[in-house]
Amino acid sequence: MLRLAVLISGRGSNLQSLIAYTAQDTVPAMIVKVLADKPAAGLALAEAAGIETETIDPSLYSDRASFEESLITAIDKAKVDIICLAGFMRVLSPSFCRRYLGKIINIHPSLLPQYKGLNTHQRALDDGAKQHGCSVHIVTAELDDGPIVAQHQVAVNTADDQDRLAARVLAEEHKLYPAVIGAIAAGLITIRTDQGQLRLDHRSGAIPGHIPGMEQHMQWPLPTCPFHSKEMAEK
Ligand code: GRF
Repeated sequence: MLRLAVLISGRGSNLQSLIAYTAQDTVPAMIVKVLADKPAAGLALAEAAGIETETIDPSLYSDRASFEESLITAIDKAKVDIICLAGFMRVLSPSFCRRYLGKIINIHPSLLPQYKGLNTHQRALDDGAKQHGCSVHIVTAELDDGPIVAQHQVAVNTADDQDRLAARVLAEEHKLYPAVIGAIAAGLITIRTDQGQLRLDHRSGAIPGHIPGMEQHMQWPLPTCPFHSKEMAEK
């Protein structure tokens, strides 16, 4: 059973998609802890699902190192295999990223390496991008820069504004993140670290369980979801 911690700062819609996905008996993954850095709305979703929550507020700590020490204590106590960032709005220190190298993944609302950081949808519109989308990537010390695990493209329509585009990308995030977790849990994706190098391997196979809206595509790699495998030296 793959044990997950999910870190959030906000509404938690990606968290909710992971809760619904991992709640299925056929999915060999479970969320054992949800952590937030503020009284995030998403905490209520975890509590409703009977998942342990904890808020670790950085403003109560003298510096980032002591805040992260508390985060580490909570994560290690929960004995998790993978830490999922899902709208967690804090930049984690290089030493934190190194400690969990290969174990932290993030979902980002763009086709990385395009549009790292914030306001991704408006920036895509301003550039006249024809394709936008979302990425799940491994977290390294560089912001939104680690190896890409999977992406889903979303076509930009001429009538799109930021909200319309964001809503369509978010709907794909809610499928992509569970699909990646399912593929990791089923051993279809393996993430290894070898002497400071990250190594990502994948093989084809059936993603366990059900993901709403993905009835046709429960095979890994997803036809609409290019898989990028690469080795990367830790920076
Ligand atoms: C999502 O767009 C995610 O890609 C980004 O932050 C947002 C979080 O939304 N990292 P939610 O809290 O999961 O609804």
